[in-house]
Parts: sequence; structure tokens; C-alpha cells
Amino acid sequence: MDKIELTGAKTFKGEFSPPPDKSISHRSVIFSSLAKGTSTVRNFLRAEDTFSTMNAFRGLGIEIIDDGSTLTIHGKGVHGLSEPGDVIDCGNSGTTIRLLSGVLSGNPFFSVLTGDSSLRTRPMGRVIKPLSLMGAHIIARDDNRYPPLAIRGGNLSPVRYVMPVASAQVKSSLILAGLYAEGDTEIVEPIQSRDHSEKMLPAFGADITVEGLQITVRGGRELGALDTLVPGDFSSAAFFIVAALLIPGAEITVRKVGINPTRTGLLEVLKNMGASLEVFNTHDVSGEPVADIHCRGKSELKAVSITGEIVPSLIDEFPILCVAAALAEGTTVIKGAEELRVKESDRIKSITAELRKMGVEIEEYPDGLSIKGTEKLFGAEVESHGDHRIAMSMAVAGLVAEGRTLINRASAVDISFPGFFDIIGRLSS
Ligand code: S3P
Repeated sequence: MDKIELTGAKTFKGEFSPPPDKSISHRSVIFSSLAKGTSTVRNFLRAEDTFSTMNAFRGLGIEIIDDGSTLTIHGKGVHGLSEPGDVIDCGNSGTTIRLLSGVLSGNPFFSVLTGDSSLRTRPMGRVIKPLSLMGAHIIARDDNRYPPLAIRGGNLSPVRYVMPVASAQVKSSLILAGLYAEGDTEIVEPIQSRDHSEKMLPAFGADITVEGLQITVRGGRELGALDTLVPGDFSSAAFFIVAALLIPGAEITVRKVGINPTRTGLLEVLKNMGASLEVFNTHDVSGEPVADIHCRGKSELKAVSITGEIVPSLIDEFPILCVAAALAEGTTVIKGAEELRVKESDRIKSITAELRKMGVEIEEYPDGLSIKGTEKLFGAEVESHGDHRIAMSMAVAGLVAEGRTLINRASAVDISFPGFFDIIGRLSS
């Protein structure tokens, strides 16, 4: 299914539960593997990225059994991993390679982390530098910038590290390394990024305190087993929320989706654009807020300006937000989002190139874009750039465009959302 063809949807109606949260699924496997005893994970995301994390921990000697509904993980404790017999392939997953770098920095053995052609161009200096300050020996390709990474860990010392970029992957990598350092590791973020690690790890028994933008990890403690239930992924739901807002007469209900405020900046932006959205049935699942969201089209959307503190809370939603902006009245300006250049593709460049093919006037900035809203998108042959979120954003653009849209390398959706096109097919006609 490497090419997908879509035509404009006349209706978009019904309800669906998004796939399990990718960030929380990765973390559930990592933390359970480092906990002593048997942990379980229900509603684990079965997708390429999270399989990379699962296979990595199997390669580090952890038994993980998947019976198709629940993962059972026989963790061996913080110091229970063994030297892998081979290179660890993190596939397309930045979360796997960066969080694993932190774990392996604490372990007194040799390991090598690599990934696919996209991951091998993503910056690793952001974890290598602070982990080296803690005492890990890490070398990497191109002057310690890109994977593969070779790590010999052990004997870490605590540090205070002020992060230059807001990144939950870097923060989580350092939190994990901090578990191995004797004493207090202090991590300071410039802007709040997603906080799943610091929320989940204390439930496994870690000693972590959060004061504003500072996280303190007290090293030298064991973790205990835990049963985790993973909520639905807001980042996957986002494609359907925007599709519903853009299709006249559409009405969808998204069930059981995580609404952690460090992830839902898109809701705030869409409301500011004038969208009709209702969040209800809010409850708690494994320490994370979960709700249902009702969306109705066609809201007349208005352009907005986005920059500053809100950026990390919608970092994965910019490609789909650009599709919404393309059909809003006025010019939307996005700044302070240079991190988009180092995601699974350069998302500023990818979305600019593809939306232009559909007739949108869109300009790149080094740290963002400006998108002039138009009345209509025109179907075109577009590329996913091998990036799951670009593929899904272009699919939504195809649903609201006039004529046919052909998406090349559409199977990129399997990174986070296998079955994406089936749900699109079920809800649209
Ligand atoms: C993630 C953090 C984000 C996000 C990525 C998943 C995580 O990356 O883009 O898809 O699970 O921690 P950064 O923290 O590097 O911005």
C-alpha cells in the first residue's frame, strides 16, 4: 500500500478511539524493563516505532510477552540489563534512540544504537553532550552528531544541566541517566515539554520532584513493577479533529483520548481559530487525563499567530495545523518552531512543498512558516517524505480537496497509526 488515492469526502461522521499513545507506550516498556518484577501494559501501541523499543529491550535481555492484548514484561531492575550481542536498530524512532541513550549511559557495557536513513540524520549532540558530562563514553558519526552511537556507560555522576532546547526526549534521556547517578541530577527546561516521564516514573517508585521547569532525580533507587493502561493518542486523534472541522456537515466523536495539557496546544489554537469543539467525560487513566472530544464542521476558521511557550505542546501537530490554516481566512504565521526541521523529515520543508502542490500560498522561515488561507485545495500527487505525520496530513488535505490526491510512500503511517486509512474510509463517504 505504498500509494494511496483519495477523493474529496462528502461527509465525515461517526466515532472512533484513536490508537494508544506512542510516547506513553515507549515509556511503559522502558520503565517496566527497568523495574524489578512483572509489569503489564494494556492498550500498548502496536506500531513500528514502539516495536523498535520493545525489540531493543529484548536485545538487552528482557523477556517481553505479547499475547495480543496485554504486554507482560519481566523487568530485572535498574541494573538488570545485559550487554546486547548486536547493534540495536531504533528504526525511525527518535524517542527510542534518545531515551535508550540515557539508559545505556548508566550501564557498564558496550552498545551501539542506529536507525533508518531518517533517524541517522537527526541530531544526537543534544543527548551526547549532557550524558558525556555525567561520565558516559559516547562517540557518534560526523563529530559526535549523528547515529550510529557507540556507548560505554557506567559510573555516572549527577549534574545540573540547563537544556538549550525544549525537548521531552532529551529531558527523559537525562532523567533515565539520573536514575544511575549517585545523588541529585537537576534538569532545567527552557519551556515545558511533554511531562509523561516525570509523571510515570514516580509511580514505578522513582524519587523525582518537579518545581516549575526544574526536574530533580535522586539516583540509586530501585524501581518496582507496575500495571499501566495506555490512553489514546491525542497526536493521532488530531488528524480526525481537523478533518471534521474542514468538511461541511461533518460530526465526529473521538473516544478515550489523552488530554495531558503538555500535549493539547492544538485544541487551544483551533479554539482561537473559531473551531467548534467540545471536551467531555474527562477522567483519569494511569495518572493521565483522558476525555472524549466532539467536533463539528464546517466551522469558519480564522488565521492565527503561533509562537513561544505554546509551541512544544503542539510540536507534532504542526503539519495538520498547516492544513487547517490553508483553509482559514487570513494568513497564519508560525514562528519559534525550528525544531520542526529535525523531526522524521524537515517538516517545514515537507509541508511547504506538498501544500504548494495543492494550490496553497505558503512561505518558509528558518523557524516556521506563513500560510495564506484559500477557499479550496486542489488534488495533486504528493509525497509523504517517509514521514508518518506528513502522510496523514496530506490524507486530510486530500479529503477536503477538489479532485483526486495521490500520496506516495503512504505506508509511513504505520510508524504510529497502522489502520489509519481504514478509519478514514469508515468515517468518510
Ligand atoms: C516525544 C517528544 C517530542 C515529539 C516526539 C515524541 C517523546 O520530541 O516530537 O514525537 O515521546 O518524548 P522532542 O521532545 O524532541 O521535541
